[in-house]
Amino acid sequence: MDLPAQVLIREVAPRDGLQMEPKILATEDKISFVEKLAAAGVKAVEATSFVNPRAVPQLADAGAVIRGLNLPEDVTISALAANLKGLERAAAAGVREVNVVISASETHNLKNVNMTIAQSKKQLRKMGELAAQHDITLRTSLAMTFGCPYEGEIEARDIFSLVHFFAGEGIRDVALCDTAGLANPRQVYRLVEQMRYAFPEINFALHLHDTRGLGMVNVLAGLQAGITVIETSLGGLGGCPFIQGARGNVATEAVVYMLEQMDVQTGIDLEKLHSLRTWLLPKL
Ligand code: COA
Ligand code: ZN
Repeated sequence: MDLPAQVLIREVAPRDGLQMEPKILATEDKISFVEKLAAAGVKAVEATSFVNPRAVPQLADAGAVIRGLNLPEDVTISALAANLKGLERAAAAGVREVNVVISASETHNLKNVNMTIAQSKKQLRKMGELAAQHDITLRTSLAMTFGCPYEGEIEARDIFSLVHFFAGEGIRDVALCDTAGLANPRQVYRLVEQMRYAFPEINFALHLHDTRGLGMVNVLAGLQAGITVIETSLGGLGGCPFIQGARGNVATEAVVYMLEQMDVQTGIDLEKLHSLRTWLLPKL
């Protein structure tokens, strides 16, 4: 079996997970959560999002969370944003990496960020200009890459065209997101293979929701197709407020366990991860 020697885990629970929890975690607990992830060896964390607090009240304290973090230099913190205002807020808080979400499904993009895909592309272009002024790196999350509950199958040429646009804007990191949890392993393998071939300059990540129990096999299919960055969520938390029934992400502890058992290095201490889950879950 062809597998990479090491994988970067991007932990998304502080954003994708907490945005879905009815209970709002205290700001100091959010800060501790991210710091404890780093202490367990996690090197990349999506810590919060700078979206409209009326849409996602759980993350209204994004600026305070970022400002409160005290982390080793080798930990990359990113925050999600969908428009210029979000990027401005992130820049003011001192974020160095911003993850811009755009959906490959027109219907989902409208529901999620109240923009057509064309409007989102325009926002991304403007965000790129502002990011350059602030020395912020932009990355993108392409939601609904593997299908959409509203629109059904998403054409591969639509994915190509969006990734081509991202590449032209200087983006080097793109997460292919199965936001609703519709992907199957053969589809993941094929798309990752095609994307890596077409865009050798892009570092692709996989972001997989486990709605139908296929999360882990999709991770494995992605690894075999050459993926080395996987977005996971502690405790399998997560979901999208604009897709009914979408379940959480593949659980960090399950993915790290599988990888370490297969001699794929993650640098993460599984015992510390389990203690962190035991610390976090009762607070939600
Ligand atoms: N942060 C804070 N407030 C924001 C904001 C941001 N990033 N973007 C817009 N707003 C505020 C505006 O100031 C305005 O406030 P006002 O009514 O008090 O004047 C209001 O929101 C509407 O602004 P508008 O530019 O028309 O935005 P919108 O209503 O079209 O919303 C988004 C656009 C992207 C901000 C909104 O759809 C959103 O937050 N979506 C959440 C997406 C998300 O997090 N999904 C889950 C993760 S994928
Ligand atoms: Zn997600």
